[in-house]
Amino acid sequence: MTDVPTPVSRARAAFRKAFAGAEPDGCWWAPGRVNLIGEHTDYNDGFVLPLALAQGVAAAVRVRADDVLRVHSRQEDSTRAVRLADVGPGTVEGWLGYVAGVGWALAQRGVDVRGLDVAVDGNIPIGAGLSSSAALECAVALAWNDLGGFGLDRNALAAAARRAENDIVGAPTGVMDQMASLHGRAGSLMFLDTRSLGIDQVPFDLAAHGLALLVIDSRAPHALVDGEYAERRASCTRGAEALGVTALRDVGVAELDDALARLSDDTLRRRVRHVVTENERVLEVVRLLSSGADPREIGPLMTRSHASMRYDFEITVPQVDTAAEAALTAGAYGARMTGGGFGGCVLALVDADADAVTNTEEAVARAYADAGFRPPTQFVAAASDGARRVTMRPRG
Ligand code: GLA
Repeated sequence: MTDVPTPVSRARAAFRKAFAGAEPDGCWWAPGRVNLIGEHTDYNDGFVLPLALAQGVAAAVRVRADDVLRVHSRQEDSTRAVRLADVGPGTVEGWLGYVAGVGWALAQRGVDVRGLDVAVDGNIPIGAGLSSSAALECAVALAWNDLGGFGLDRNALAAAARRAENDIVGAPTGVMDQMASLHGRAGSLMFLDTRSLGIDQVPFDLAAHGLALLVIDSRAPHALVDGEYAERRASCTRGAEALGVTALRDVGVAELDDALARLSDDTLRRRVRHVVTENERVLEVVRLLSSGADPREIGPLMTRSHASMRYDFEITVPQVDTAAEAALTAGAYGARMTGGGFGGCVLALVDADADAVTNTEEAVARAYADAGFRPPTQFVAAASDGARRVTMRPRG
């Protein structure tokens, strides 16, 4: 935990520039995530298996005596301000909502939330489905908690960050991204039961097996605030109601055929089938990895997950299907879209040697060029530690 991500020093420099040479009280860092498997299961009380990335968001923060929140974003190249008393559902537009929303959600818990001056910088692509927004929320939530001495644990901070996203920004997401950003661990996958919020860290040492997880940013336009995510979520609620269960998590694969026979609507049947089979795939991946199996064995489960998202949940787009297919044709052991869908990134499990990684990257780039898509960007994921305060040597 001694490494200091580059955006931290940039956020600190931006803080001085934006706030008349003042020094922040401290700097906080929170990572983005990719989800290895378990998509659209988190709001169904189900299972997810994300890892925290090495890329994320840094926040340089100073606490204020009043209730004004001023936030400078290096990416947006602007500074915005709001009084915390004025923040509520529907009151804050755009990116400021992620930060102001966390303050609002913490205040809803009854803690004494003061204003902040904040400068943020990040090295995670925005809108690529890598949870840049959760990283921003979590960096700020941790800073507020530390500076305010609230003593909230990380699950409470994840819940506050999720409320910011749900109630202030208006994206009806689950809690996976915030939990991954706060609880991620280097070299591990975070196996989360989203009902109990119980976590098992599953060792994920791909390098020891000569493997790498390639992240392919499809660069297809991606927006969670639009209606599709909410529509899928509503279908799942309808499915659970029709089946008389609290959440689709309560339907096991053994009961799936019976459950499907009780649903009259074909689309709803496919939505339910995705969630039930996806939960089972997460459990199977965890079983394989925990029993010391060769991680190559999880490849087919990743690929089946993609097919389920493509045909049953219908959340993929041509760019991500092309990327997944090209990676598989080039020899990947498994490939699947990760995240909410309608764009975002594809994960490919590939051999780690430079030739294999380059070969896959080139195959994807060629397939993209043939299809006339904007070139994808690609990088190898490193499972990294979750959010933390970063100590830096004082400026000398
Ligand atoms: C987005 C949401 C998560 C989760 C995924 C799909 O990332 O923020 O809560 O629902 O989509 O698995």
